Amino acid sequence: MLTFDDEVTTGTAAGMQMPAMGLGVQPKVETQGYTIASKDNGRIRVEDKRIINCKADVNQLVPFKYKWAWEKYLAGCANHWMPQEVNMTADIALWKNPNGLTADERLLVKRNLGFFSTADSLAANNIVLGTYRHITNPECRQYLLRQAFEEAIHTHAYQYIVESIGLDEGEIFNMYHEVPSIRDKDEFLLPFIDTLTNPDFKTGTPEADQKLLKSLIVFACIMEGLFFYVGFVQILALGRQNKMTGAAEQYQYILRDESMHLNFGVDLINQIKLENPHLWTPEFREEIRGLIQKGVELEYRYAEDTMPRGILGLNAGMFKEYLRFIANRRCQQIGVDVLYQGASNPFPWMAEMIDLKKEKNFFETRVTEYQTGGALSWD
Ligand SMILES: [Fe+2]
Ligand SMILES: [Fe+2]
Repeated sequence: MLTFDDEVTTGTAAGMQMPAMGLGVQPKVETQGYTIASKDNGRIRVEDKRIINCKADVNQLVPFKYKWAWEKYLAGCANHWMPQEVNMTADIALWKNPNGLTADERLLVKRNLGFFSTADSLAANNIVLGTYRHITNPECRQYLLRQAFEEAIHTHAYQYIVESIGLDEGEIFNMYHEVPSIRDKDEFLLPFIDTLTNPDFKTGTPEADQKLLKSLIVFACIMEGLFFYVGFVQILALGRQNKMTGAAEQYQYILRDESMHLNFGVDLINQIKLENPHLWTPEFREEIRGLIQKGVELEYRYAEDTMPRGILGLNAGMFKEYLRFIANRRCQQIGVDVLYQGASNPFPWMAEMIDLKKEKNFFETRVTEYQTGGALSWD
């Protein structure tokens, strides 16, 4: 059974496979960006499969080697949801009521959406134009395709919230280059995204493979695993006070998806480490720790900027501690030394939010006229 908690999965997670070295991979026909088995190759064997730099045909899903990737693909599909299923009526009434929210709460909602509304497009482009090309395994690619669609749903959800409560979309969708604390987070990410999306970038040397691994760690552990968490806490804290409950429900579904993305990223990173131990040098690990530390600083500045006076029973100090706690988890998950000894979690209720059961509240709030493909007419 899969859970949605971001469990520590350092080292050899259940189902992870040790690499098959020197097992006589047959010659293949190289084509643009992928490989097709040549006619006289024989059949694909599990031991021929590798996460990166694999020569086996990527068009053949089975036999499975990385069952954790396939299971996450199935779990992602089972969690499918759409933004229009969430009832936004209460949010609309609250936002229109001049006494519904304080000025600080309104600033928080806008800056929160200001980061997220473009962050998931960045994430989607990073997967489709970057990561996907370099991951040479079909079951992992199957998950990445599902993940890319989920990022589209998340961007849709933010747009849906902006539209529902009537925010100025130009203001919100331009915050990523107009608000410094948001811009700084995105600028930190861009060089790593550029590595993956650069058409001239190819894996296959230790230097290039380290660059790939570094970008995967930045994307999973810092972007999805750290830069989203101040924003998630803020909106979910509003929801806990019965404010912006529709937005909070959307964020719960997004948080559940994102914790799966993070867990997939961690499994992917640890499997690449297992198959390519020469990449995981002490210098490389120190560099990763430095990047995570930088991520904590940037996210803390964003927390201060979105809630300068502290609201909702939250203050900057709590966020500092929370980010240190989360950063330690990320370090443990990929197997580097923790950065902040003794950091504890000031928001234990976040664990319940991650462990969302769709049946628990989903069908109570969804709009009744929503229908899936079953409503199609062929007349
Ligand atoms: Fe997302
Ligand atoms: Fe994501």
